[in-house]
Amino acid sequence: MANIKYYSGKKIPLEMHKVRIVQKLRLLPIEERLDAITKAGNNTFLLNNRDVFLDMLTDSGVNAMSDQQEAAMMIADDSYAGSETFVRFESKLKEIFGMDYVLPFHQGRACENILSQVFVGEGQIVPMNYHFTTTKAHININGGRVEEIIIDAGLEVTSNHSFKGNMDPEKLKKIVHEHGREKIAFVRMEAGTNLVGGQPFSMQNLRDIRQVCDAHQLILVMDASLLSDNLHFIKTKEEACQHLSIREITRQMADLCDIIYFSARKLGCARGGGMCIRTPELYGTMKELIPLYEGFLTYGGMSVREIEAITVGLEETMDEDIIDQGPQFIEYMVNELDKRGIPVVTPPGGLGCHIDAKCFVDHIPQTEYPAGALASALYLISGIRGMERGTISEQREEDGTEVLANMELLRLALPRRVFTMSQIEYAIDRLSWLYEHRKLVRGLVFTEEPQILRFFFGKLRPVSDWQQKLCQQFKKDFGDSL
Ligand code: F0G
Repeated sequence: MANIKYYSGKKIPLEMHKVRIVQKLRLLPIEERLDAITKAGNNTFLLNNRDVFLDMLTDSGVNAMSDQQEAAMMIADDSYAGSETFVRFESKLKEIFGMDYVLPFHQGRACENILSQVFVGEGQIVPMNYHFTTTKAHININGGRVEEIIIDAGLEVTSNHSFKGNMDPEKLKKIVHEHGREKIAFVRMEAGTNLVGGQPFSMQNLRDIRQVCDAHQLILVMDASLLSDNLHFIKTKEEACQHLSIREITRQMADLCDIIYFSARKLGCARGGGMCIRTPELYGTMKELIPLYEGFLTYGGMSVREIEAITVGLEETMDEDIIDQGPQFIEYMVNELDKRGIPVVTPPGGLGCHIDAKCFVDHIPQTEYPAGALASALYLISGIRGMERGTISEQREEDGTEVLANMELLRLALPRRVFTMSQIEYAIDRLSWLYEHRKLVRGLVFTEEPQILRFFFGKLRPVSDWQQKLCQQFKKDFGDSL
């Protein structure tokens, strides 16, 4: 964001945009919130948005669009084949990432589906800085497995490391040495590493990983869904890149990769997905699968109106004023919570503010899902919908053993340009109250547990009547306030 100092010396992020379309919100009384979260099986995915006050579930498909994006939607060309809209999308991607081949997908996980079908064979390994839920599921379905080789600091909840999303090149060399290069389907670097708190990797790290890939002829794939946040951090924290424009940083990153795919529900602030590919060999087999799973090559399952909006959104991602807003609001929220002693992932990353549930409710065992319980409790006392990113988001072993997550996080996503500073202050206030009364919060147990991606549809119940007790305390402290 532009460098604007306050006379008071306060550090408050200042938006370089104004709001021109608004959506009315409702904040239900706490009794109705208890009813809603109970019906939702204590799973925030199952709440109806009409019962939610601040929707911090995700930044996916819910970022505010610009007037330019809305305007572009009006000129969409909806011809099935050879659409002008696709030509604009393709040329914008080629211009930004400098790769010759572009494929359209209906969203990010659709890229992962085809990537895994084509490149992952039975028993193969995909080393990555860290997994994302859908990525891992697609690799596993195709008989492969994920090896997470993030640097050690990446799994420390609090740290001063600026690039906790870095991959450890030594760990990558070790995997190649132990298993041989034939066993490795591809290497995946996730920008703005989602599940460890939206943490970036550095340009230098990407360069180091490229070197290892070159030495062993490995394909390097970047998941660029959270690239905009990662670009902000490289620009503001990596000294060697500070003289570069966002466009130059983007190109330098792309030049180190063979394939880049993204969810345009995040990158480009609309709804869709895409993939850029360097060589005709890599492009060939994937291209054939697009009409089978997505749609014709010039729309790939997306609405042409959305494709127009993504094209403009990608160009807007090259504007520092636009990409800085998210990380700066997150930094404000994280720092304010940290000042109050509330355990948060540090340094502040992209995507959202991540509360360390293992520490916040350290009396709840991991087998009773501390992050899930905290998500339920926060909705109950504030109407804020966050997302569990802990053990519930993992999948049991085949023999039924729980896989305990490395981190138990409650993610409070800040969709880009959506919330105002007073709404952030409200979230900080309610989290502070909940922290005071954290001992009232207890665990959850599954009542319905799907086998795949259980966090989406699973239902849970509280282990005791702790939610009623939390409601009573709320009424005592807040009286008739919503
Ligand atoms: N990769 C990353 C890093 C993501 O964060 C996501 C989605 C995907 C791939 C899949 O993309 O949703 O378009 O199919 N993340 C969302 C989230 C769901 O809430 O964090 P998609």
